[in-house]
Amino acid sequence: MSLHTHIVGVGGYLPERILSNETLSTMVDTTDAWIRERTGITQRHILAHDQQTSDLAVEAAKQALDDAGLTIDDIDALIVATTTPDMVFPSTASVVQYKLGGKGFPAWDIQAVCSGFVYGLAQADGMMRGGMFQRVLMIGAESMSRIVDWKDRNTCVLFGDGAGAVVLENREGEGGMIGSVLHCDGSYRQLLMAEHQHNGHEPGKAIDFSMDAAGVAAIEMKGNEVFRVAVSKLGEVVGEVLDKYGLQKSDVDWLVPHQANIRILNATAKKMKMEAGRMVITVDQHANTSSASVPLALNHLYRQGSIQTGQILLLEAFASGFAWGANLIRWSKS
Ligand code: ACO
Repeated sequence: MSLHTHIVGVGGYLPERILSNETLSTMVDTTDAWIRERTGITQRHILAHDQQTSDLAVEAAKQALDDAGLTIDDIDALIVATTTPDMVFPSTASVVQYKLGGKGFPAWDIQAVCSGFVYGLAQADGMMRGGMFQRVLMIGAESMSRIVDWKDRNTCVLFGDGAGAVVLENREGEGGMIGSVLHCDGSYRQLLMAEHQHNGHEPGKAIDFSMDAAGVAAIEMKGNEVFRVAVSKLGEVVGEVLDKYGLQKSDVDWLVPHQANIRILNATAKKMKMEAGRMVITVDQHANTSSASVPLALNHLYRQGSIQTGQILLLEAFASGFAWGANLIRWSKS
């Protein structure tokens, strides 16, 4: 029997503070009805002033380790996908390793924005199949509220904070990661970006991370164009990953998409001809949490007790870059 990468633990964390559409509509010129209709979002979670991305990651990781019945000492490598690291360096992964009480094993960040977790799973799977690691802690964690311009209604309604994590184990046994497809096209980069030192921030000056301040690296987006390309590329990539691994649309039991906008989700589900209820929807509860979005959706599905051993999961994401991709998994966790 050959070795495969199996998900053996799943976890998620959303910070306590909730920012509802109603409250947001007292901050910028918007309404609950507009946000719900155009995006499906009803609320987002915002991290506390004394929390950082690593703190969210640690909570999700603890739950995933606990779920796997493992401790940090059992882990061989730690990857954090994040767009909002605690600092420029060291990596958030090294901070998370320290906060979890781990030492010695490699830890690093990857940055593929909202596709970070899908990219990270593909990377970890490749390294594990190559025999480099037996157990990897893979986390997606974001503090999007720290880079959002809270005065820009076009973007601030869309994002939230959170973290999701899985423990991966390379072992014999049926199922596990089937494979992945990844893409990037940098010619689209200016349609969605957060330039460093935006909004007059001067190097060396203290950064105001409060929600009263316009974001330090505020998000700029051509929403319509992002929407159009996202729908098209996601439709293509789900077909591509299924073809690559010899599966049909009808073989997919659960679609676990990046949670950006309910209309993007529905468009992909329609292309997949997914039965109602077979696509995970959490965007209403926590908005777009970038690289935390896919593992948070997976955690939601898992905690509902909905996934049966042997079922096929299709994870997909589309992000700034543009970077997009998909992972196929045959569920092997009992
Ligand atoms: N409240 C009220 N009105 C608003 C708001 C708001 N929060 N934001 C924009 N508007 C206004 C606009 O100013 C515009 O007004 P105008 O016609 O007078 O100029 C009007 O609403 C319509 O704006 P559109 O941009 O055409 O609205 P659209 O239906 O495209 O929805 C949205 C905008 C939600 C941003 C959509 O384009 C979208 O979701 N795009 C994808 C962006 C995304 O998800 N990015 C995240 C990262 S990438 C990813 O994760 C896929």
